[in-house]
Amino acid sequence: MEELKTQKNTALEAIEAAGSLDAVEALRVDALGKQGWISQLLKTLGKMTPEERQEKAPAIQQARAEVADAIAARKDALENAELDRRLATETLDLSLPAPDEARGTVHPVSQVMDELAEIFADLGFAVKTGPEVEDDWHNFTALNMDEHHPARAMHDTFYFPDRDKEDRAMLLRTHTSPVQIRTMVNEGAPVRIIAPGRVYRSDSDATHTPMFHQVEGLVIDRDIHLGHLKWTLETFLKAFFERDDIVLRLRPSYFPFTEPSVEVDVGFEIVKGRRVLGGSGDAPGHAWMELLGSGMVNRRVIEFAGLDPDEWQGFAFGVGVDRLAMLKYGMDDLRAFFDGDIRWLQHYGFSPYDQPTLSAGVGAPA
Ligand code: PHE
Repeated sequence: MEELKTQKNTALEAIEAAGSLDAVEALRVDALGKQGWISQLLKTLGKMTPEERQEKAPAIQQARAEVADAIAARKDALENAELDRRLATETLDLSLPAPDEARGTVHPVSQVMDELAEIFADLGFAVKTGPEVEDDWHNFTALNMDEHHPARAMHDTFYFPDRDKEDRAMLLRTHTSPVQIRTMVNEGAPVRIIAPGRVYRSDSDATHTPMFHQVEGLVIDRDIHLGHLKWTLETFLKAFFERDDIVLRLRPSYFPFTEPSVEVDVGFEIVKGRRVLGGSGDAPGHAWMELLGSGMVNRRVIEFAGLDPDEWQGFAFGVGVDRLAMLKYGMDDLRAFFDGDIRWLQHYGFSPYDQPTLSAGVGAPA
């Protein structure tokens, strides 16, 4: 009994003297932990005769309660001391202005892609995407660009060293047109889609970057003709530029994947040094600007995609998204689009809170 008392007092003193929460915890483990001395003593109670137990149990229980209380009290005291120390030393000035939070903007390319999706949704087009790492069958062969087509040359296209499982050369797609093939192969006809995305060419100067953005359009159905193409482009461009006076000029052209192929020009006027779209390019003070490529999908492409060209035909077009953004929002250096300069983004970027987009939509009053 004396021994228990001494042990208990030693423990209580140590607890009282403990200078940190860690030290208190170590003392708790030492006394009340599984292997702690009080826990061990409590275990001995089970093996005692009832008389012996009656004699010794109260002192052991008492020691346990006293040590547990002392530990709780010391823990409280240490925690309060820490809180007092923080209250005394830390200050919080509620009158200080909050630090400025850097706020991001929507990149003009993303903005324009949203606008395109919105306008074409009004016309019943779905949005499709395809891989940027393509194989040469989807990017070239199925689009009727045979092995000797100059666009397939090593210096125009980024190739990967390895071939895919089907032994096709792998490359960074040079246009969004492979999405035409993928959509026809996967979904059959009819088709009404746009496919916005990144494309890559080995090209770099003020108006060309090795990566840029295109949007592809594809309509496949029965009895589709050039008139549908012209109406769709006119409706789209009027909605996009939010002007009713957009005038198009269609010129014969050549793409391997369309026949006939049509280059589309848009009339503009130079106003205060800037090109402002609208009016016929033949009007006084006006000129024409080449805007996009298009045409009726070549029969061979429809065949490559597994459809019967006597039953299905349609039109396709491809246009640079970056260029559309530059024309609509007045930037003049394409390279700045991809420099990631915060000042440029603050100036030309869009607030995410302004969505839905600025486009007026199809059929909205101008
Ligand atoms: N893929 C062509 C290009 O990148 C554009 C285009 C698309 C032309 C669809 C006609 C039809 O230049």
